[in-house]
Amino acid sequence: MTYLEDQPAFRAFIERVEGAVVQSGSQAGSQAGSQAGSRAAPQQDLLRQVGDAARALVAAEDWLPQAATVPHPQYYQQYLLYCDPAERFSVVSFVWGIGQSTPIHDHMTWGVIAMLRGAETGQRFELGSPMRGQEAAVLHPGDIEFVSPQVGDIHKVSNACADQVSISIHTYGGNIGRIARHVYDPATGQPREFISGYANADADTRGYGRFAAATT
Ligand SMILES: [Fe+2]
Repeated sequence: MTYLEDQPAFRAFIERVEGAVVQSGSQAGSQAGSQAGSRAAPQQDLLRQVGDAARALVAAEDWLPQAATVPHPQYYQQYLLYCDPAERFSVVSFVWGIGQSTPIHDHMTWGVIAMLRGAETGQRFELGSPMRGQEAAVLHPGDIEFVSPQVGDIHKVSNACADQVSISIHTYGGNIGRIARHVYDPATGQPREFISGYANADADTRGYGRFAAATT
C-alpha cells in the first residue's frame, strides 16, 4: 500500500511550497527595518511561486487519494492533505457536492486555489451594509486564484457544475482549519467568528495526511 506522502507529484509540490515560504520569510525579515519595508513584495512573490507549483500539481489528479475526493450530501468538505510541522502552511482538497456553496467568508492569511476537477464560481465582496459583490469568476481545471488580506480576502465560492462534484486544491499560510476567521452577513456586513476544522478524523497530525493512495 502506498500513501499520499509517497506520491512524487505531491511531494515535489510540498517541497516547492516550503522553499517559497522559507524564502518569503527571510525576504520579509530582511526588509522589515528598511524604509520601503513592506510585506507586499515578498508576498506577491510567494503567491506567484505557490501558484506556479499548484498549476503543475493540478495538471494531473492521479496523486490524489480517493478518500480525499468524497463529497458529503449536505456540506462541502475540506480534507487536510498536508500540514507543515511548524504550521507555516497547509494544503487541503476542497470537495464540492452539487449545489453546495460557502457563506461569504475571509481567511486571515494568504491562500492559493488551484482547480483540479469540475469548476467553481468565486465572487469577491467588499465590506459594507449591505455588502457589495464584485463580478463572479469561474475557475476551470488548471486555473489559479489568490486570496489574502492584501489582494482581497472576502469571498463566496460555489460549485459551478450542476451535474458533477468539483474539487480544488487550496494552499494557505498557517493551519487553515484551526485559524479563527469570519463569515459575514451579506445584508449587514456583520462578521461572525468561525473555525472551519477538517473533514478527516486524523487532521491533527502534522506532515502528510494519512491517506492510503488508492488513487482515482
Ligand atoms: Fe475561501
